[in-house]
Order: sequence, then structure tokens, then C-alpha cells
Amino acid sequence: MRVVVVGLGYVGLVTGACLAEWGHDVVGVEADEDRLANLRLGRIPIHEPGLDELVGRHAAGGRLHFAPVTPSAFSAAHLVIIAVGTHDGDGGWQTTTLAASLADVVPHMADDAALVVRSTLPPTFIRQLPGIVDHLRREAGRPALAVLVNPEFTREGSAISDFMKPDRVVIGVAEDPTGRGVGRLRGLYRRTDAPILVLSAADAILAKIGSNLFLATKISFANELAAICDAFGGTVDQVVQAMSFDPRIGGSFLRAGVGFGGSCLPHQVVMTMKIAASAGMTTPLLAAVSAINRRQQKQFVRRIAGGLGGQLAGRRVALLGLTFKPGTDDLREAPSLAIAALLLRRRATVVAYDPMESARHRAASMVPGLVTVASVEEALAGADAVGLVTEWPEFDQIDWVAARRVMRGTFVVDGRNALDPARVAAAGITYTAFGRGRWEASSELAPAEEAAGRLRPEPEAARSITFAPALSGE
Ligand SMILES: NC(=O)c1ccc[n+]([C@@H]2O[C@H](COP(=O)([O-])OP(=O)(O)OC[C@H]3O[C@@H](n4cnc5c(N)ncnc54)[C@H](O)[C@@H]3O)[C@@H](O)[C@H]2O)c1
Repeated sequence: MRVVVVGLGYVGLVTGACLAEWGHDVVGVEADEDRLANLRLGRIPIHEPGLDELVGRHAAGGRLHFAPVTPSAFSAAHLVIIAVGTHDGDGGWQTTTLAASLADVVPHMADDAALVVRSTLPPTFIRQLPGIVDHLRREAGRPALAVLVNPEFTREGSAISDFMKPDRVVIGVAEDPTGRGVGRLRGLYRRTDAPILVLSAADAILAKIGSNLFLATKISFANELAAICDAFGGTVDQVVQAMSFDPRIGGSFLRAGVGFGGSCLPHQVVMTMKIAASAGMTTPLLAAVSAINRRQQKQFVRRIAGGLGGQLAGRRVALLGLTFKPGTDDLREAPSLAIAALLLRRRATVVAYDPMESARHRAASMVPGLVTVASVEEALAGADAVGLVTEWPEFDQIDWVAARRVMRGTFVVDGRNALDPARVAAAGITYTAFGRGRWEASSELAPAEEAAGRLRPEPEAARSITFAPALSGE
């Protein structure tokens, strides 16, 4: 099938590359000239595991092309999939980018083609979508088009496998009197045996938003439970594990910590509250989900301050992890940014490390005063306290005995309940997290030969730490 994907960001580029893998002929259309030029040179603008290889292979094999926004790009397609952004960059929804893209695309599509919107739409826009498309077609003197939505359920960091092996495919019908559009879209997914649900466009988009609201609720629930565990001497990991055997509950996403970030969850919670309010409704559950999420970031900072005797001014805090989750370079609504800003406001020196170099550079430009460094070792050297914000697997490998020797203080706050508390405490460092109580530093340090001046065990530890005498940023 000939498919055009419009907007080559996290969603569009993965969609285009995966459709090429399924054997479709794909043209990816991108408005940003730099992004387009880079893609044509084989440079992938985002970090998503496996994407470089997939794009490179299909671009070289001729099944995936990249093109600017020109009328001829759309005329031969059986399906045009729009995946442009719908965020306003300030926690809100915007549809002007989508409306502009519709104006670029719709007049030039073949009469038997179907238009598919993959962007997450505000439910208020769904009712307007068929009318906007009809108007553009009439102005162009062309017959009506099939108009569908096909929301995205993949997760950044595992987007390719999520796309290739979906749990379900949701098709929402905005306008398709003959059923030809749905037939085409089913054909696009013929390589998957996942259930394909055909719903109204409003139901499809609400299924997408409802999924995200539920996931956000699970995280805030876990955070509330963690606070209860801390108050009554429980351990949230054990409590959640015991709960998760109940098939009505399940264990996934019941993770306590600094809360959810990213382009979807915080935004959709807040925007759903706003549109509900404009329809005269209250949404007390979502208000609590959002408030708990914000509270976690403040609590994290309070815990770091608590470990430093309440005094953050002039203290050096190492932040481990900046991206909103591991496996991506995405910083959108990452808790790290708010946490760094809160620490800086209290006049701490904040030194952050993240394995994603591009994320480090962007974070430093987004948070004035934030210092980023290129290794865990540099972040920990001279730190009065350490805060883990993103659970990148490499942080599991830190040798805390060696870390203790380069740190100035002895306090770790684990914002993702990701570290082994016993290992950290045994290294002579006090450990706290969310719902795991407080693990006092053990007075018995591990044998000196284990430290050996390194922060990681073999094999990564082959390189030695450079002990930065003074603060040096990137
Ligand atoms: N990021 C996610 O994990 C995710 C998950 C589910 C749904 N979504 C939704 O998918 C949509 C896209 O999200 P994203 O994260 O990929 O956005 P993004 O900002 O990363 O990418 C959008 C791309 O579209 C391009 N673009 C903008 N206007 C264009 C036009 N008129 N023609 C061609 N290209 C144009 C931009 O230059 C950019 O490259 C949003 O509605 C988002 O809410 C995102």
C-alpha cells in the first residue's frame, strides 16, 4: 500500500519506519527543513531504540522516502496519516498545526484515498474534523474523503516493538459512508493479529485519553500508597507485589517515585480537567491525580533538603537522570526539570548527568543555572547529596562504596525506587525513597579493596574516575 506519513517526530517516524518494515511503500513528509535534511542524510533526530537501523535499512532499500510538504507528495497515496503535534508547549492543547497540515494535505489527496489522523486530538476537535475536511475538499472542487482516527498507544523507549506487536488497534470513524477507508486501514495492519476495534471517532480518541488517564491514576495511587507505607512502616514494593497477584489489579504502572512526565500523561490529565470544566463538569479524581504528581516533585526536594539538615544553599546536589523515563531522549514535562529548578531556587548547586547527551544539552539550556556533566563519576564527585530521577539501567551498576569515597556527603534520595537500599546503606550512605522507609548508613564500610577508586564494577569500571577538584560543567 502507498502511505504518506505527515510529521516525522516520535510518532510519525516510528509509524513510517514500521509500516515500511511491514512492506508498505512509505513517504515521510516533514515541514521542518533541518529535520528533513538530516533524515535524508541518515541522521535520526530522536532517540528510539532500533529506529536508526530500521530507517537506515528501508531508506537504503527504497521503501521509505522523505519529502517536503508539496502537493505532489500526497496525490498517489492510498492512505495519508497525519502525526503532527497537538501540544501548545505550555501544558495545553492546540489544533492550529493540525489545521494547517489538513490544508496542505486534503485538497491534493486522491478521491479514493483515506485520511487518518494519528495525533492525539482534543475531544472537542473530533466533531469539527469531518466538517473541516469536507470544506477543504469542496473548495478544491473534489469529492468527500474517508476520515478516520487511529490513536497511537506505543511507549517511547519501546515504540518499535509496541508498534509491530500491538495489544489492540483502534480505528475511529469520523466519515466513511462506503467503509472503504476502514477497509484500507485494516489492510495496513494485515501483518498483525491484534484485535482491531472499529469505533466512532469520539470513542476512539476517548479510549486513547482514557488509557492515559488510567495509567496516570495508577501512578498517583502508588504514590499515595507509598506515603501511607512510609507513615505506617510498610514497604511499598512488597505491598504492591502482594496486590499484583490479584488479576483485577495487576502490578504494572504501580510504581512510586517522583511521578509521571512526558508528552502525554501530565498534559492529558490537565487538559481533560480543563475541557471538562468548560463543559460545566468537575473532575475531582483527576484533580487529585495531578496534585499528587506535583507533590512528589516537591517531596523529593524536601527529602534532599531534609538529608542536608534543611539547608540547600551552597550545597552540591547530584541529579542522576534527566529524561522523563529511560530509553528516550525526551525531556517534555520531565520531573527532572521542575526538580532542578526547585533546588536552584533554594540556591543549591545542581549537577546533572543523563546518558543522553542531547538531553543534557537541552536541559542545561532549559533550566538556567543547571550544570550538566558527561559521566556519573563527575556528577557524584563532591556531591553533598544524590537524587536519582530517571531509572537508567546504568545507575544499577554504580559501586556505592567507591561513590561514597568521592562524595562529600552521605545521602541518596531514590526518586524511582530503583536502587538496592541495602547496598547503598552498606556503603555508608543513608538511603531514602518513596514508601521504602529510611535506611541509615551502615557504620561498617565494605573492604577498601572493593572500592579501588572506581564507581562501577567490571567491565565498565575499566576506566578510572576523574576526581573533579572544582565544579566543571559541559
Ligand atoms: N510522543 C509520544 O509518545 C506520543 C504518544 C501517543 C500520541 N502522541 C501524539 O502524537 C502526536 C505527535 O506527537 P510527537 O511526539 O510525534 O510530536 P513531535 O513534535 O515530536 O513531532 C511532530 C512533527 O511534525 C512536524 N510538523 C509540524 N507541522 C507539520 C506540517 N504541517 N507538515 C509536516 N510536518 C509537520 C514537526 O516539524 C515535527 O517533526 C501528538 O498529537 C501527540 O500528542 C505522542
